Amino acid sequence: MAASMTSPLTGPLYEQYLYSYPHKLAYGAITPERSLTEVWAAEPKDALCLYVHVPFCEQRCGFCNLFTFANPNEGLPARYLRTLERQMARTRAALGAAHFAQYAIGGGTPTYLSADQLGELFDVLKGRMGLDPRTSPGSVETSPLTATNDRLRVLRDRGVSRISMGVQSFADGESASIGRRQAAPTVHDAVRRIRDHGFPTLNLDLMYGLPDQTEESFALSLRAALEHRPEELYLYPLYVRPLTRLGRAAAPSPDDQDWDAERLPLYRAGRSLLLAEGYAQVSMRMFRRAGAPDPATTSSYRCQRDGMVGLGAGARSYTDDVHYSTAYAVGAQKVRTILEAYVEAEDESFDRVSWGYLLTEEEKRRRFVILSLLNESGLDLAAYRRRFSSEPHVDLPELEVLLAARVPDPLIERTEDRLALTPAGFERSDQIGPFLMSASVRRLAREGPRS
Ligand SMILES: C[S@@+](CC[C@H](N)C(=O)[O-])C[C@H]1O[C@@H](n2cnc3c(N)ncnc32)[C@H](O)[C@@H]1O
Ligand code: SF4
Repeated sequence: MAASMTSPLTGPLYEQYLYSYPHKLAYGAITPERSLTEVWAAEPKDALCLYVHVPFCEQRCGFCNLFTFANPNEGLPARYLRTLERQMARTRAALGAAHFAQYAIGGGTPTYLSADQLGELFDVLKGRMGLDPRTSPGSVETSPLTATNDRLRVLRDRGVSRISMGVQSFADGESASIGRRQAAPTVHDAVRRIRDHGFPTLNLDLMYGLPDQTEESFALSLRAALEHRPEELYLYPLYVRPLTRLGRAAAPSPDDQDWDAERLPLYRAGRSLLLAEGYAQVSMRMFRRAGAPDPATTSSYRCQRDGMVGLGAGARSYTDDVHYSTAYAVGAQKVRTILEAYVEAEDESFDRVSWGYLLTEEEKRRRFVILSLLNESGLDLAAYRRRFSSEPHVDLPELEVLLAARVPDPLIERTEDRLALTPAGFERSDQIGPFLMSASVRRLAREGPRS
């Protein structure tokens, strides 16, 4: 889509999804490497988030560039679980006293694990990390084929509060075009099973911009999802990334300007439908049904303030000063090599931090602005001043540029106490995020490892 004359946003409308900052592509070697104990020493640990990565799936979808492996050798998931337990023991020793206010088990597809293995995972999370899923809200990702009754029963019995399922589309032709083996009746059955188990929050992911998708077919998928009145819905614009099946086929091309022009009306139609159905917009992608549980009230974890402990191959962890991860990859061969190395790793290797990003004071300020501005809560000016003893538009002059921009509507609304995206701003989140990145993070993310 052509940017208006007064828009400073010259990149493509769908430039980059910034779900965190700095982007993991900007990570590099941390030399000399740090010890886990030292990295966490100064961090408050009374309301941490725990993330567990389960890198297995029953299929490799054509669009997916996540760190995951389809149909691993029998035995690998069990070895992976044993390694997770070893990593937990070392991590807990390094952290000392810590309380997890929230947790997420993601992937991949965590429900690729059997019901017994999921039970074991919760046992070790409690035994090794002190996680109590009955008192801390937590989310588990699933897929239509693996959301079976026996697994859902384990998750419900353990107190999981949120189930998130990737659907992408209820049109079978569209699912096939993105290399996803699934039929709409199977998806509906899976959602009904989840509902029957009574989880407080159900999230469904849908995608737009799929090959041959039309406004009508997208609306049909949305209506099919709405039949189940999910508490949350994520609408993801399709990104075609290198090393994925779609990326290799270059279908559609990521640089295709016409494709941007196709995704924007789909987004607008989807957003209007959800607002009319009683959903509130939380971010460009996320919509929450009125009255649904809101983590702002159910959990004391705040991503702007509290750290995240990532466990498992490819998981990221955040402290105020250091963001780090273990090795990750997209291509099947490299993913397999990394997984084999993970399950063979010596216990001591989990005590070291050698890959990540050391945040400067400037990057901390950018992170605060980017994460809050791209959300419905907006940038709380008093909170920024309290934390940094400074003004956000002085630290990030780009904010003034965005405030002055008209496309033709303003992108940001300024009130006395906050800056918040307007609807025109929300739909340009994937341009605004990259626009607010520092030059060095942008350069590193552009040149970062891709394998
Ligand atoms: C962590 S993934 C996992 C979901 C789950 N494994 C499944 O597929 O059923 C979360 C969501 O990100 C979205 N996603 C992943 N890759 C994407 C891409 N290349 N473009 C747009 N959305 C994507 C999909 O909607 C997906 O459901
Ligand atoms: S979209 Fe989900 S099921 Fe498909 S490969 Fe990615 S993580 Fe696995």
